[in-house]
Amino acid sequence: MFIKYRLLISLLILPLTLQPSCSYSQYSRDDILRYREEVRQMFNHAYSGYLEHAYPYDELRPLTCDGIDTWGSYSLTLIDALDTLVIMGNYTEFERVVDIITNSINFDINMNVSVFETNIRVIGGLLSAHILSHKAGIALESDWPCNGPLLRLAEDVANRLLPAFDTPTGMPYGTVNLKRGVPPGETTITCTAGIGTFILEFGTLSRLTGDPIYEEIAMNALRSLFQYQSKIGLVGNHIDVMTGMWTAQDSGIGAGIDSYFEYLVKGGLLFNKPELMSMFSILEKSVNKYLRHNDWFFWVSMQKGLITLPLFQSLEAYWPGILSHIGNLNESIRSIHNYHHVWKRYGFTPEFYNIIQQEVSTNRESYPLRPELIESVMYLYRATGDPYLLDVGVDILKSIQHSAVTSCGYATIKDCRDHAQDNRMESFFLAETTKYLYLLFDPDNFIHNQGEHGRLFRTASGESCVIDAGGFLFNTEAHPIDPGVLRCCPKKPSSKNESATFSRHLRVFDANLDALEQQRSSKPLAMPDVEMLAELNSLREHIDRQLKAGAERDRRKTEAQNRKYSFGNPLRKDVCTRQNWLKFVFFARRTRCERRTNFIDVIEDIRLKFASFRNEVRLFKDYLLNKTEFTGDNYDPQVMLERILQERRHSTTFASFTELKLLYCKPQQYIQRLSFLGQFFNSP
Ligand SMILES: *[C@@H]1O[C@H](CO)[C@@H](O)[C@H](O)[C@H]1NC(C)=O
Ligand SMILES: *[C@@H]1O[C@H](CO)[C@@H](O)[C@H](O)[C@H]1NC(C)=O
Ligand SMILES: *[C@@H]1O[C@H](CO)[C@@H](O)[C@H](O)[C@H]1NC(C)=O
Ligand SMILES: *[C@@H]1O[C@H](CO)[C@@H](O)[C@H](O)[C@H]1NC(C)=O
Ligand SMILES: *[C@@H]1O[C@H](CO)[C@@H](O)[C@H](O)[C@H]1NC(C)=O
Repeated sequence: MFIKYRLLISLLILPLTLQPSCSYSQYSRDDILRYREEVRQMFNHAYSGYLEHAYPYDELRPLTCDGIDTWGSYSLTLIDALDTLVIMGNYTEFERVVDIITNSINFDINMNVSVFETNIRVIGGLLSAHILSHKAGIALESDWPCNGPLLRLAEDVANRLLPAFDTPTGMPYGTVNLKRGVPPGETTITCTAGIGTFILEFGTLSRLTGDPIYEEIAMNALRSLFQYQSKIGLVGNHIDVMTGMWTAQDSGIGAGIDSYFEYLVKGGLLFNKPELMSMFSILEKSVNKYLRHNDWFFWVSMQKGLITLPLFQSLEAYWPGILSHIGNLNESIRSIHNYHHVWKRYGFTPEFYNIIQQEVSTNRESYPLRPELIESVMYLYRATGDPYLLDVGVDILKSIQHSAVTSCGYATIKDCRDHAQDNRMESFFLAETTKYLYLLFDPDNFIHNQGEHGRLFRTASGESCVIDAGGFLFNTEAHPIDPGVLRCCPKKPSSKNESATFSRHLRVFDANLDALEQQRSSKPLAMPDVEMLAELNSLREHIDRQLKAGAERDRRKTEAQNRKYSFGNPLRKDVCTRQNWLKFVFFARRTRCERRTNFIDVIEDIRLKFASFRNEVRLFKDYLLNKTEFTGDNYDPQVMLERILQERRHSTTFASFTELKLLYCKPQQYIQRLSFLGQFFNSP
């Protein structure tokens, strides 16, 4: 009896769970376009609801039909939805809103914001709108894409985030005050995604503005983070950015980690950086080994790989999309089947779903209109054309239309089991969910161009590049970036101030000398072993070379300009003793001691002194690694950049790029064009 009952159940369940694609519908072109128009109306309803009831607040509250500030107070939904207007072809509205944004939005506000969210939503949104503005036919500045009002705004916001990255590890704080930098007493704990989700936006910013700082800093954070993976190749959930100690050791592909993986893949593709792909392929091996069970992904402890939570999180549904970027279509579609099964059961994907117990996790039963599943479906449909994926898209569209719609917008589903609504519509509904749905049902969208056509473009500075040739990569907030546009802009000549750089070099040395003196007087030092000594000597030589080069450049400049540098007010010459000038260098801005000595003499002096400490280089290295120059009155992004370049803390060498299997498998066509057919390896 029992056995029969079980059998009956499995007969009922099997066709649903294992073979959901055996009876998918057939869609004609007209059917598909009808769905597209339905998505357009969905977007317009929510968008005009926001404009009418909520603007200039960040978000619409769809039950009370009013507005509220959530992530900042900069009309977040308006910025986030901007490029969706271009993708849906509403150019007049795009032009109107670009005008509003460039004329009225001000980021110089005393407000603590999430570095991560501000980057993906605001910087990402502004950059995409800037890049796509040529499609909408609005008047461009003559040096577009290397300049323009939206780009300047994006750069302004990025500059306000930069202080967060000024930490000993190079990994950023999670919060920053837009006006004042990192708030005093701010927690030093950041989630993994909050560290590894900058390279798309920051790299784009650097390529367009010509200022390397953004890309360098994002790469530095990625390299740093990669070093802290566990012995078995897993990353945890939260880390202390001062020390590199993990404070939450759960490892998974979802909340707190997700877009880190995404940006390794997309960053690798967008900027032709095999280094990032390499990082991904190393981490992916461990993900598959420890996390993956029947094409679900569990949560495990990062040190031992033991299962801690057999959960599926709604956010994790981005993973099949990433797999489709690297051509792993089979695994990708198997995970989508799993996730679609959950969707069919509840009509939505709950935030957390317990895979073993097959039920929604308590207090995690909501669906805040998240895009991740439809995002993966859209990518995979473009890669395979499998009509089963249209079925999934239609399911998603219908659920939202049925249960989330309100009189002025679309509401978060508070509980997937009874479809109760909540008074929130996050900006990603207009930035992502509706955009991916629209793209699924719009076969002719310019975004899908696979390199069949493009436009030869000549910039004001005479560079030529091919734009609008497809291969768009989306940031994690669904803001697309045209890889062609990134090749249009010249690198800026270095804006470094040689003399300022020079005095900073001095300061580092000086501080080290002080430390060495102290160490030496307090206790005798053990001799480092030969190998260590050789390594440290080469470090020393490297720094020596840098100093000499800097000195030489500075000397030429000094001669050319025939001027001497001086600080502060003059004091009597005899005050400028050796000891005092050490202090003087350190407190260059505050001291009242004037040096008339040429900088070359100074540097030579230090170098000689340094040479006498040959055996204690280990301490020097320690100190250099420990050294932090902190946010505060004298925070200067250039200083931070130079320090990063100078320290070269994070190894950039990977064993062998030829082991990059990822680059040899069959990816989506447009990615293939970009990465496989050469550019990946030819580009600097
Ligand atoms: C463009 O957006 C405006 C404002 O929401 C709306 O009134 C108009 O109908 C939209 N146009 C199209 C073609 O969707
Ligand atoms: C920002 O955070 C700091 C530290 O927590 C706090 O002192 C300050 O009041 C906050 N500023 C704003 C505008 O909320
Ligand atoms: C993917 O699945 C197809 C059909 O089942 C199969 O022919 C193909 O070899 C698989 N590809 C990989 C890389 O496993
Ligand atoms: C370079 O730095 C020095 C010292 O900090 C300063 O006096 C000078 O004005 C700077 N020059 C430029 C061009 O910024
Ligand atoms: C570097 O930091 C470690 C740990 O904080 C400390 O023990 C060590 O003394 C520091 N070294 C130097 C040279 O400051």
